[in-house]
Amino acid sequence: MALLTLASAKGSPGVTTAAMLFGALWPRPSVVLEADPSGGDIALRMPAADGAALDSQMGLSSLVAAGRKSLYPALVDVHAQRLVGGQKVMVGVATPEQARGITQWDTLGRLFAELPGHDTIADLGRVGAGTPQNSLVEASAACVLVVDTLPSNVVHLRERIRRLQETFGRMSGPALSVVVVAPPKRSRAVREVREALEKSELDVGAVHHLAYDPAGAAFFLGQITGNPGRTQLVRSAQPIVEDLARQTESSFVAPEAASPAGDAEQEVTS
Ligand SMILES: Nc1ncnc2c1ncn2[C@@H]1O[C@H](COP(=O)(O)OP(=O)(O)OP(=O)(O)O)[C@@H](O)[C@H]1O
Ligand SMILES: [Mg+2]
Repeated sequence: MALLTLASAKGSPGVTTAAMLFGALWPRPSVVLEADPSGGDIALRMPAADGAALDSQMGLSSLVAAGRKSLYPALVDVHAQRLVGGQKVMVGVATPEQARGITQWDTLGRLFAELPGHDTIADLGRVGAGTPQNSLVEASAACVLVVDTLPSNVVHLRERIRRLQETFGRMSGPALSVVVVAPPKRSRAVREVREALEKSELDVGAVHHLAYDPAGAAFFLGQITGNPGRTQLVRSAQPIVEDLARQTESSFVAPEAASPAGDAEQEVTS
């Protein structure tokens, strides 16, 4: 039942790839929520469990349409789909115009933060001042900011973290950590990002190194060949996922301990 959010401040460092990767390695049942208002990529990249294309009309847009009056956990199952390999996914909006029609971001935050039996790993895309998906950051137990090693992007990341912490307050907001996507041999660049963040005295937890690995990333573009478990991408992600899963453990509630029968249809309210 923990909501883990992943976002970037600038650039396209690999947020969607990291969200799918973390979902694939997550030790508890999880749903990958594609909540990037600029438009989803998963349905365009990945096949469904049966090998056919994912239904691009079935996902976040259809969920909020069905839940216009009452958004409750059982609807998530109806509108989620399964990727090849079995991962549950809530496909994102097809266009930014569709995202503009979504008015229930606050309710979505609470819904996914309290989903019985599943953690949610949400791809928020790029977050900025007043982006609607910021409500999901607020509702999350932990938020991972993904960045590459480009110095200008690191500066934007630092400013975004500063603003997020000002908005949510250091104590009440999600635990923030950083994932730096860099070639496996460039751990020095990752250290430099860590040092830059330490100097700015922001309240950031771990700064992890996720391998820049085109062969591993290709798996999440639907090029499913070989054993992804052997890729540098997956190997570098394993300790990150362990750390995040541990960090969010206390927010997970097993399905049997969740709402008693009948409550599944209860509306998520403030
Ligand atoms: N760790 C990685 N190693 C190598 N290539 C990667 C990695 N992560 C992502 N890529 C590649 O970079 C491109 C962008 O990745 P992705 O869509 O995950 O980024 P994003 O941050 O979600 O971008 P956007 O801002 O468009 O949503 C894709 O071609 C993807 O395969
Ligand atoms: Mg993306």
